[in-house]
Amino acid sequence: MPLDPRCTSCGLSGGRRQVVPPSGDLNSCLVLLGEAPGEREDKLGQPFVGRAGKWLDKCLADAQLPREKIMITNTVKCRPPDNRRPEPEEVEACMPHLMEDLKGRGLVVALGSTAIEALLGKKVKVGEVANQIVDVDFHGLKLKVLLTYHPSACIYNRDARVKLAEGLRMAKEYCGITA
Ligand code: URA
Repeated sequence: MPLDPRCTSCGLSGGRRQVVPPSGDLNSCLVLLGEAPGEREDKLGQPFVGRAGKWLDKCLADAQLPREKIMITNTVKCRPPDNRRPEPEEVEACMPHLMEDLKGRGLVVALGSTAIEALLGKKVKVGEVANQIVDVDFHGLKLKVLLTYHPSACIYNRDARVKLAEGLRMAKEYCGITA
């Protein structure tokens, strides 16, 4: 199902400026999955271009993984009010678009608990699973998923930055991406 810029499948449509589609190399083997667009993403129409995006860029640089060689997307494509976490029914409403984003990828990097929980269907403590690669059956899609920290965790947790950069390095190697 193509992403409709006028989508009204859930209540987030009422508060957004625009739908934020995936960015980067849309045919990449590797996809990074975040939570939801924030204010700047909502304004510019691209994922991870705000404060969390700056941390993501630092970790991508640490991993020598060029941003233009990967695809970046979010669990929901519209900004939740006040940057709250998306509700389960909003994640559910956006599921067809997420399935479209993840179909046929070599590896999905799930950034933080919202992305991880959307894919695994259960709650996890990110610190206990960080940088594990697991097999996931996501509504019939067979996925390899690397579980790791959300870039915004780097703001207050130095270990998260080290782990996230290490996870991105693992992902780069797994997909055979050259810098
Ligand atoms: N920006 C995004 O696009 N996604 C996030 O999860 C956070 C910030």
